[in-house]
Amino acid sequence: MAKQGLSKHYPCWLANAPIPGASELDVFDKFTGKRATRVGFADAALVRKAIVAAYKARQAMADFPPDKRRDVLEHCVRRFTQRQEELALALCVEAGKPIRDARGEVTRLIDTFRIAAGEATRIDGEVLELQISPRTRGYRGMVKRVPIGACAFITPFNFPLNLVAHKVAPALAAGCPFVLKPAAKTPVGALIIGEVLAETDLPRGAFSVLPCSNEDAALLVEDERLALLSFTGGLVGWDLKARAGRKKVTLELGGNAACIVDEDPGQSLDAVIERMVFGAYYQSGQSCISVQRIFVHRAQYAAFRKKMKDAVGKLRMGDPKDEKVFIGPMVDEDAAKRVEAWMDAAIERGAKALVRGKRKGNQLPAALLEKVAHDTDLYRKEAFGPVAILEPFDDFEQAIDLVNDSDFGLQAGVFTGSITHAMRAWDRIEAGGVIVGDVPSFRVDNMPYGGVKMSGLGREGVRSAIRDMTEDRLLVVRDV
Ligand code: SIN
Repeated sequence: MAKQGLSKHYPCWLANAPIPGASELDVFDKFTGKRATRVGFADAALVRKAIVAAYKARQAMADFPPDKRRDVLEHCVRRFTQRQEELALALCVEAGKPIRDARGEVTRLIDTFRIAAGEATRIDGEVLELQISPRTRGYRGMVKRVPIGACAFITPFNFPLNLVAHKVAPALAAGCPFVLKPAAKTPVGALIIGEVLAETDLPRGAFSVLPCSNEDAALLVEDERLALLSFTGGLVGWDLKARAGRKKVTLELGGNAACIVDEDPGQSLDAVIERMVFGAYYQSGQSCISVQRIFVHRAQYAAFRKKMKDAVGKLRMGDPKDEKVFIGPMVDEDAAKRVEAWMDAAIERGAKALVRGKRKGNQLPAALLEKVAHDTDLYRKEAFGPVAILEPFDDFEQAIDLVNDSDFGLQAGVFTGSITHAMRAWDRIEAGGVIVGDVPSFRVDNMPYGGVKMSGLGREGVRSAIRDMTEDRLLVVRDV
């Protein structure tokens, strides 16, 4: 059993310095329900101060040379590596993330900063041929990428470290100061990142990390001094975009990811099931690319259904600090009740539960359903919980239509042994990414990552985010 890993109190960070906050916020252990720690909680006045500091730091950050940005990012890699187990335990407590998943997230945090360290000295420009007619004889053109300016970041509860890293690390590589509002339910990961950044020689004002209420975060959305808003969370992101004025907006808003198992899945059903169980149920399905809808070719359906039912039925639920536990608690009881109610409503409409257990507070056992009507919430919305739906299909094109019958499109998975089907899926599936031979839940932190339709706008992944956080600046020189 892993140990409790939190300090008693975490300050918030304003312009690189620790501050107590305007008040204190209790952070709860999501498994025991007891208070685990307290953190500084900001108000609108502190958010305003942070924006002013970030805005003032624009030029200093732009002038902070790429090799020094790389050194800062490499420092983070070293310190996160040294503090790996402490960080994993913090996630385990504040997010209820099973300790194995928590360790995996810390590894990815380190990857994300390491990728950004590499990119920091590779933000290259372009030489343009301007001599395209007699009129332009003797002119030369060059374009470089310059930092966009101060950025606002709002991050969700489900990856308290790595989804913060996906905004912070590219910003540091690009030379953008930022103000970050981490999720109020899981602020500790971001505050520890703040601690590590404070050990570096980043220019004053380069970073602020302020847990605060959504109301007090309104300035992060609306203040015109901020050049970019990057938001990961729910569909409220579209409302934020409508209020964001002239700033650039990146939105990562989730999905109800589908996965196809073809007539020839290209690997043994046992191998497919192993990945499917991971993809649908890791961290209790609280991931935007968690497998929610599984379409299985009719020739494989009966065998798949049986094996999947057996595997899901064996998943162990309980204390996320227990190394053998796969299903930890959900973020709160309301989230667990919502998923439970969606399952009840689907069952009333004719769905059949192949695996289902009784909810205990915020702990919801892994569930597997079939015959779910396509107009139910469970099918159409983002479940963000430990539940998956099975459905047979007869023809690969029909399976793609089923995947696309969704308002979301973040990532999709396709298990197929046919290269033609793999290419057809890549051509036709309406999603930001298609994963062949694995579940949609697969992500490497240098991949472009983002969705279409209601799933979002723009792409993250370090290099894509750096592109958003920089803009072209042209130089024209005339030979005289
Ligand atoms: C997300 O929930 O969007 C993040 C998924 C991941 O990074 O694996």
